[in-house]
Amino acid sequence: MSALAGRTALVTGGTSGIGLAIAARFVAEGAGVFVTGRRQPELDAAVARLGSAAIGVRSDVSDLADLDRLFARIAAHGKGLDVVVANAGGSAALETIETLTPEAFDSDFGINVRGTAFTVQKALPLLNDDASIITLGSTSASRATAALGTYSATKAAIRQLTRVWALELAPRGIRVNTLVPGPTETPGLKNALANGPGGVDAMLKYQAGRVALARVGHVDEIAAAALFLATGQSSFMTGSELFADGGEAQVLI
Ligand SMILES: NC(=O)c1ccc[n+]([C@@H]2O[C@H](COP(=O)([O-])OP(=O)(O)OC[C@H]3O[C@@H](n4cnc5c(N)ncnc54)[C@H](OP(=O)(O)O)[C@@H]3O)[C@@H](O)[C@H]2O)c1
Repeated sequence: MSALAGRTALVTGGTSGIGLAIAARFVAEGAGVFVTGRRQPELDAAVARLGSAAIGVRSDVSDLADLDRLFARIAAHGKGLDVVVANAGGSAALETIETLTPEAFDSDFGINVRGTAFTVQKALPLLNDDASIITLGSTSASRATAALGTYSATKAAIRQLTRVWALELAPRGIRVNTLVPGPTETPGLKNALANGPGGVDAMLKYQAGRVALARVGHVDEIAAAALFLATGQSSFMTGSELFADGGEAQVLI
């Protein structure tokens, strides 16, 4: 039997990169999946690719009214939610403490932390017994990367919120874990690296050089880890973090 047969999942930011791969894997495992993103054409393309088990709802996680509309749409579907992947949250200003602006700070924290927090909060009334919530961390929360201070801090905040939510939601049987991808080839990562020295290819090579397995990750490898956290295969894990990072955060190279 498929691992998520009859289950319903939400993947925010499910139109690209890691979120799209997670949505595709969940659909392949029998789930009905809601996917979100801010851009309607990308949302339409993702739903076309995912097929009839997917429903797209255009919404911005940093906009509370958008989140209310999203969860009203999921409530109207009538099946509740078994899995929430709070994946949208890759806002990453490239600013040092000298160049940091209030706008860049607010964007990173507004999308990554506030967006994750209110996605989870507003999902709570819809969560079925034994639901699994997955937040997205980053290896940058465990080691310092110059000019990535606010992004790193948002991911550290998400990591700690996950521990607290795991404690608070345990009485309902809801598990909450953080999935930590290493550098993973996505449109988002490539876009972020485009202005680095030597361009995207040189920067991906540099990223691979920081990883024990000496390569960047594939989105399907992150989706496989998400599937583990989504199902009863991880039934004794909560408040934890699962690194799918090729060893990046575990070794010094
Ligand atoms: N790729 C990596 O190496 C890596 C490593 C560690 C952690 N992560 C984390 O993994 C997650 C996904 O990253 P990715 O590399 O797959 O990014 P990506 O390719 O840029 O995809 C991001 C997705 O999120 C959506 N999104 C962005 N802002 C949003 C918002 N405010 N509200 C709703 N949707 C939003 C995007 O669609 P729209 O733009 O249309 O909204 C898109 O669907 C992020 O949390 C990131 O921090 C990635």
